[in-house]
Amino acid sequence: MPQLAYVNGRIVRHADASLHVEDRGTQFADAVYEVCAVLNGRILDWGPHLVRLRRNLAELAIHWPMEDGPFGLQARRLIAANGHADCLLYIQISRGVARRDHAFPDAAPASVVMPSVVMTVRRFDFAQRVRQLDTGIRVITAPDNRWGRVDIKTTGLLGNVLAKQAARTAGAFEAWLLAGEVVREGSSTNAWIVRDGRIITHPKGSSILPGIARDSLIRLASAAQIVVEERPFTLAEAIGADEAFLTSTTAPILPVVAIDDHRIGNGRPGPVTARLGELVWAEVARQTGWRA
Ligand SMILES: Cc1ncc(COP(=O)(O)O)c(C=O)c1O
Repeated sequence: MPQLAYVNGRIVRHADASLHVEDRGTQFADAVYEVCAVLNGRILDWGPHLVRLRRNLAELAIHWPMEDGPFGLQARRLIAANGHADCLLYIQISRGVARRDHAFPDAAPASVVMPSVVMTVRRFDFAQRVRQLDTGIRVITAPDNRWGRVDIKTTGLLGNVLAKQAARTAGAFEAWLLAGEVVREGSSTNAWIVRDGRIITHPKGSSILPGIARDSLIRLASAAQIVVEERPFTLAEAIGADEAFLTSTTAPILPVVAIDDHRIGNGRPGPVTARLGELVWAEVARQTGWRA
């Protein structure tokens, strides 16, 4: 079965899928995106992803007329057409195609620019993430040199890209981004530490991306009577923590066993993270029926 993509209402061969050279997404990163986990053919947390997408579009004043119902149908049609039970759905919506000019295209009726909508699907092995609960992963640290509104999930990701590459080069899974001494988040994940049984993560605001997996974990932890503190924490606090972990759509929860050259706790995944791992994967099973 050939790989398929969605471009502006049409499902086309992935190899033939393309956008105009003057799409504002490519010229200005004037575009927002989402990555959703699909397990057993079902989209995890679809409602929260749509809410975030709508909020981001509104933040950038991108007017996108399609309603949630038809859009969900298009996304599911693409997933079904690709035939992968377990995959990642990528959604990108740019302001559209217009003669290059920094300011928004003129919204006079004769020249209304339609947003460009692209969706792709790629197979993903979620079981590896369950196995990694036993081993954990390492992170490095890097300065957070992104722009000031990283709460908006735009395709302007160069700061994230360079930090992730630094992690790869160092043989680590992720880079935790520092503002001075404060750990904000990872290049594509939210960052957490555990102290005295409580879990701590940076508060929402303009300096982190409000992760869907982060919100989900807060709900699950609270329901299990695990205290959640949304407050800034420092690198020193993280290094001295009992445990650390990260969350994201593509890594719903992974224990962090080392930060730079510092072992966290005894250098093995800890009991609080293990308990949260059970809760997270039970929630995945509840929503999608998926089991490792
Ligand atoms: C910078 C950043 N932080 C956190 C996350 C985690 O967000 P989510 O849980 O919605 O995948 C992402 C996801 O791409 C991200 O890019």
